[in-house]
Amino acid sequence: MSFHHATLMVTGGAGFIGSNFIRRILEREPSVRIVNLDAVTYAGNPENLADVERRFGACGDRRYRFVRGDIRDADLVSRLLRGGSAPAASPPSTPPPHAIVHFAAESHVDRSIMDPRAFVRTNVEGTLTLLEAARAELDTHQRPLRFLHVSTDEVYGTLGPHDPPFTERTALAPNSPYAASKAGADLLVRAYARTFGLDAVIARCSNTYGPYQFPEKLVPLTITRALADRTVPVYGSGTNIRDWMHVDDQTDGVWTLLCGGDSGNVYNLAGNAELPNIEIVRRILALLNKPDSLIQFVDDRPGHDWRYAMDTTKANTELGWRPRRDLDTGLRETVAWYVENQSWSERVLGEAYRAAEELYLRAGPPWA
Ligand code: NAD
Ligand code: DAU
Repeated sequence: MSFHHATLMVTGGAGFIGSNFIRRILEREPSVRIVNLDAVTYAGNPENLADVERRFGACGDRRYRFVRGDIRDADLVSRLLRGGSAPAASPPSTPPPHAIVHFAAESHVDRSIMDPRAFVRTNVEGTLTLLEAARAELDTHQRPLRFLHVSTDEVYGTLGPHDPPFTERTALAPNSPYAASKAGADLLVRAYARTFGLDAVIARCSNTYGPYQFPEKLVPLTITRALADRTVPVYGSGTNIRDWMHVDDQTDGVWTLLCGGDSGNVYNLAGNAELPNIEIVRRILALLNKPDSLIQFVDDRPGHDWRYAMDTTKANTELGWRPRRDLDTGLRETVAWYVENQSWSERVLGEAYRAAEELYLRAGPPWA
């Protein structure tokens, strides 16, 4: 399937992975158009895409359009699927999308422990709204429409030290409210493929790192706190293991699945780089020339999954995808990006930024 001339509806494109995906795909695919539907929660920042807006937005080659809205807004989603414009301050409409690339989510495990309901609302209800809108659109207009759902290794649960990595056939056993809400979304996508014949593919991704990641996740949190000579909290004993994948590899994987994934199938995408948390924190501190004494062991996360690892043979043998950025190079580049963009971290973390952004968005985007 070719998406080289397609219009994509990307959800959650103002967040970490979505913004990297949009930039990389618009740069690489000169005929692709993207409509980015994002509610701009605390984790979404239109500033992540300021350069994309300049180059590809209304004042650029007009292949990019941002629509602020909630994926649970069924009317808005249906309008966008028909190629219509958003209600207020509408930029010109784009052709009906050929695919939905669904990144939008509440994504932080710790927040899901504090407020599980928000996760069910966006991750389960939001995904259901998108699926229903896609079904209704296809009921009235017979046309190609692929649903690429971005999921996580956390739906598989946790591994012991000697367990083999999760494969796509591993049973789902989510442990956190976040993971349970993502598993619920996965199962809805699967059900829509089986029951209604929706052309859907699921990408299950490992811990992703890179530029523009909100500094609440381990890698950017460690970098930004260490830069300010603040302590770095490590949960429990720091022996929990994660697999780390650079966001460019994730983007390339999602694009590969979009173009070549078998409908109704799940594919694991991972960096094949397992590391205990304490080790990744130490590597970051070393890159910043900061002392290990900044590490502060704190109470463990409740229900903390011990280890994630995924077998990526399927994406590799069927579609030729494999991660290309080794962890040391990726971490060095990522640390350098945060060092060069400290004002970005300060702004996205600051209350003042949030309030100013609300005002700016209420007044309408610059191209309106
Ligand atoms: P993020 O938190 O950085 O961004 C999420 C984006 O979704 C934000 O821009 C936010 O404004 C938007 N959003 C949230 N609720 C919305 C709603 N109701 N309607 C519209 N937009 C909404 O997340 P991320 O780290 O970029 O993750 C993107 C996707 O990838 C998620 O589905 C996540 O579960 C999955 N994932 C992330 C990782 C990772 O390590 N970051 C790994 C595997 C899978
Ligand atoms: O595995 C994929 C998942 O990776 C994604 O689905 C999630 O959206 C993403 O947030 C991420 O979840 P984790 O919980 O693994 O990421 P986080 O960066 O929050 O934590 C990574 C590990 O580091 C985890 O074992 C908890 C630990 N940790 C985290 C924070 C924020 C600490 O020790 N200290 C911290 O301050």
